[in-house]
Amino acid sequence: MPLARFTTLGVGGEAEVWFVESAAQLAEAMEQPYRVLGGGSNLVIADEGVPERVIRLAGPLAERDLTPDPALSSADEIVTGWVGGGVPLPGLIRQLQKLGLSGLEGTVGIPAQVGGAVWMNAGTRYGEMFDGLHTIEIATPQGTVQVTPADLNWGYRDSGIPRNHVVTRVRLKLRQSTPDEVLTKMDFADTARKGQPKMKTPGCAFKNPGGVSAGKLIDEAGLKGTRIGNALIAPEHANFIVNLGGATAADVHALLDVIRERVVVPLELEYELWP
Ligand code: FAD
Ligand code: EPU
Repeated sequence: MPLARFTTLGVGGEAEVWFVESAAQLAEAMEQPYRVLGGGSNLVIADEGVPERVIRLAGPLAERDLTPDPALSSADEIVTGWVGGGVPLPGLIRQLQKLGLSGLEGTVGIPAQVGGAVWMNAGTRYGEMFDGLHTIEIATPQGTVQVTPADLNWGYRDSGIPRNHVVTRVRLKLRQSTPDEVLTKMDFADTARKGQPKMKTPGCAFKNPGGVSAGKLIDEAGLKGTRIGNALIAPEHANFIVNLGGATAADVHALLDVIRERVVVPLELEYELWP
């Protein structure tokens, strides 16, 4: 199955995709070499595809129960039921806003799945996934574990969860607020996206070194608008590479090399390159 259709960049060749709907199916899928695919919003997948099987959470692993758990919730803190790793984050954030549940609205506009967003602690300067997590269930090759954020060495764009350990579901830890208040915070966080391109892209290419905008550094190197093949360093924001239509992974790799050569500060890649 071509992987391009599962990615926001729209690039990527063939692989065997396993849609897994239960812990048992996931355990079976993890018996041979595999990769985990979430919303495909941080991936540059090779035009040749990948040899490993690609696991995608589906069915009950993409369902949510936002009912407060009475045993875990208090007057100040709502702890929800389980939210599957395969749940699309944008819809979840809209639903939490309607319920007036506050804590994750800073992640508005991130086109991830919950599992992928937790795995890399996706966020913005207005909040990140680890602001709203109570329990994380993780399938590992040795079995399933449940951990709390305090058990993990998490930080900026990093959960501390090893690669290929699969975030199967989470319980959210939120504060009861009002739909209006959550919407106001969400709109505020969303204004930071006004300067981001609207075309096919995997988000920011590089992490911000020491809090400095990598986009600003790439811009200052004069690279906005640089085009290789059908991939372009966005004129709107230099840390975004966009697909003009028909771009290849090779085009994107070549642009990443140009950025690494021209920006003097060492930049750490945020994208994940498959393979
Ligand atoms: P994928 O891209 O599918 O995979 C990324 C990594 O997560 C891979 O290693 C994959 O194996 C792993 N993974 C996926 N699912 C799971 C799982 N269930 N368990 C374990 N590992 C898993 N990011 C930000 O942080 N902040 C932003 O503001 C932001 N804005 C963006 C805007 C746009 C328009 C786009 C396209 C991207 C943006 N991103 C942003 C980048 C991207 O959305 C995040 O990196 C997100 O966390 C990727 O999640 P995903 O589910 O799409 O994962
Ligand atoms: N800037 C430039 N030129 C550019 C880009 C930015 O001068 O080409 C300047 C802006 O004018 C602004 C500053 O740099 O003064 C910061 O820019 P911005 O607000 O866009 O934030 P950022 O640091 O570039 C980060 C995240 C984004 C997130 C936004 C909003 C990283 C790598 N990027 O971008 O996350 O959406 O803040 O909170 O941390 C992502 O991780 O994929 C991502 C998109």
